[in-house]
Amino acid sequence: MCGIVGYVGKKSAPEFLLGALEKLEYRGYDSSGIAICNDKEKKDKVELIKKKGRIRVLRETVENFKDFFGKVGIGHTRWATHGEPSDINSHPHTGASGKIAVVHNGIIENYMILKKNLMQKGIKFASETDTEVVAVLADYLYDGDIFETVRKTALSLEGSFALGILCSDFPDRIIAVKKESPLILGFGNEENYIASDISAFADRTKKICRLDECEMAVIKNSEVSFYNFSGEKINKTITEIDWNIGSSEKNGFDHFMLKEIMEQPKAVKETLSARCSNNDILIDDLTKEYLENINKIYIVACGSSHHVGVAAKYAFEKLSKITTNTDLASEFRYRSPIIDEKTLVIIISQSGETADSLAALREAKHKGAKTLAVVNVVGSSIAAESDCVIYTWAGMEVAVATTKAYSAQLSVMYMLALHIAKILNKISKEKFEKHFNNLLNLPDLIEKTLEEKTKVFEIAKKYCQRDNVFFIGRNNDYAICMEGSLKFKEVSYIHSEAYPAGELKHGTISLIESGTLVIAVATNHKLFEKTISNVREVKARGAVCLALTTEDKREEIACVADDTICVPRIPPIMQPSLSVIPLQLFSYYVALLRERDIDRPRNLAKSVTVE
Ligand code: G6P
Repeated sequence: MCGIVGYVGKKSAPEFLLGALEKLEYRGYDSSGIAICNDKEKKDKVELIKKKGRIRVLRETVENFKDFFGKVGIGHTRWATHGEPSDINSHPHTGASGKIAVVHNGIIENYMILKKNLMQKGIKFASETDTEVVAVLADYLYDGDIFETVRKTALSLEGSFALGILCSDFPDRIIAVKKESPLILGFGNEENYIASDISAFADRTKKICRLDECEMAVIKNSEVSFYNFSGEKINKTITEIDWNIGSSEKNGFDHFMLKEIMEQPKAVKETLSARCSNNDILIDDLTKEYLENINKIYIVACGSSHHVGVAAKYAFEKLSKITTNTDLASEFRYRSPIIDEKTLVIIISQSGETADSLAALREAKHKGAKTLAVVNVVGSSIAAESDCVIYTWAGMEVAVATTKAYSAQLSVMYMLALHIAKILNKISKEKFEKHFNNLLNLPDLIEKTLEEKTKVFEIAKKYCQRDNVFFIGRNNDYAICMEGSLKFKEVSYIHSEAYPAGELKHGTISLIESGTLVIAVATNHKLFEKTISNVREVKARGAVCLALTTEDKREEIACVADDTICVPRIPPIMQPSLSVIPLQLFSYYVALLRERDIDRPRNLAKSVTVE
C-alpha cells in the first residue's frame, strides 16, 4: 500500500512525479502529494503540495501553481493506515524547519514511542500518521549532514519502510532508504528515479537496481552512491529488464476491469506459450531428482491469488498425488507450519510485493523448503527472492479487482500440476497428452465463454438490487465461489459469502429468506445431484437461484434454478478457468448498474505491502 516516487534530473520534476504517481495509484488512492527542490536556487524550505483524494486533484492543484517548479522531487500516493484520508495526513511530511520532506511506504511500528519522546522535548506534530515521526526525528537530528541524519533516523526506526527524502540544503539529491518495503532505482539519461514499482518509470528506462534490506542510496542526476545502514559504501549491480509492461490505456472500454476480463484469452495464451512447446511443459527447476524427494506442497498467497491455490489444490492432488495444502500467507507466516527440505512452497502473487506473501516466502526458505513463485510483475521482490519463478504474462493489470492475472495464475498452476505428474510418472502418456491439449485449448474456450457477456448483463439487471448473496458449490466449484464472492463484494459493495454447499445446513441456511440470491456453481458432474439438492433446500426457504453449470446440464438445471448461465464442458480439474468468467462479468455489471467506482473500489489497494 502507498506508492513512493522520486526524480532527480534536468527536466520538470512535478511533471515526472505526477505521471509516475498516476501509474502507482493502484497502490492506494486516499490522497497524494509531492515535494520539490529547485537545484539552481537554494531555498530555506522544500516546496510542498498535498491533497486528499485522487491524483487528478493533486494534478489540478499543481497545474494551477505557476511557480511550482523544480528538477528534484519526491511524491506519494497513500492508502491510509494511520489517520484518516485528509490533506494534513497526506505525504510528504516535514519537520518544524520545513527543510526535510519525507515520503514513506510501510509502517513505523515504534512511532508512538518516538513521537512521545519528541513531544516531551516540546516538538509539535501536525498529523496522526506514523510517517510524520520520520520527518520530525530527522529534522530534530539534522546538523547539516543530511546523509548521516537520515542514516541515524533509519537506525531508530522499527517496522517496514521505503523512504524518499529531500532536503532544501542539498537541492541536487534525494536519499532513498529501504527496509522490508520495496524500493527500486531507475537510471535514465542525465536523470534518475526511485519508485515502489518499476512501472512508475518503465517508459523512461529499463536500467534498474533494487535496493536490498537495510540499504540506502544518494541519488543525483549524474551519480548514484549506495550504502549500508552502517554508512559504508557498497557496490550494486545495475540490471536491464526485458519487460514490456503493456498498455495502461482503456482502449475504448469504460473500465479497466472489463478490458482486462476481455483480455483473458490473450493473457492465458501468452502465459502458456512461454512454457509449453513441442507437446511438453518446460519447467527446468523442478527436476525428477528433486520432485522424487518431496512429500508435501504448500500453496501460499493472499486474496484472489489464494483462491487460485484453493482451485489448483484439486488438480495437484489428483494429478501429482502429492499432499497439497493451501494457506493464506497472513496465517501461514505466524502458525509454525511444518516445513523442511522435503517441502515445496509455491507462492502466488500478481504484484510480487504482497507483504504477507513475501514474509511467508522468507519463512519457508528459512525452514529449508524450496520456494517457487508464480508472479506477474517481473523483477518484483517475491520473484527476486524465491528459488525459482514462473512468470504469468498477463501484462499490466490496472483494475484493483484482479481478473486476467487470476486466470493466468490458474493456467500456470495446471501446468505445474501436469508437469509434476508427468515427471513422477503419475499419469500415462495418453492422459498427459489429453490434459496438455485441454490446457492449450483454454484460451479459445475462455473466448467462447466471454460470448455470454450480454446474457450475464441481462441477469445482472435482474439481481443488482439484492442486499445479500450466497455463492455455493462443492470441491473446486467451491473454490470458484470463493473468487466469485470476493470479486462481487469488492466491486459491488454488496454483502456476499461463499459457502461449501454441503456445509449450508450447519448454520448458514438460517440466513436464507424470501428473495435471498443464491448463486450455485454446479459444473462437477460427480457432485451435480448433491449441489442440486442444496439448491432445492434454499429454494424451499424462499431463495432465488442463479445457477452456473456446463452446457450439457442446461436443461436439467433449468427445472430448479430461476436463471442459468452455462460454460463449455471440460474435465473438472480445469473447469474453474471457465466458471470464473461469468462470475467476473456478473460482478462487473452489478457494480456498473450500482454506479460503483469499479476500477478503484473504496478502501482497497491493488498491492498490499503492509501487514
Ligand atoms: C489485494 C488485491 C487482490 C489480490 C491480493 C493479493 O488484495 O486487491 O486483487 O489478489 O491483494 O495480491 P498479489 O499481488 O499478491 O496477488
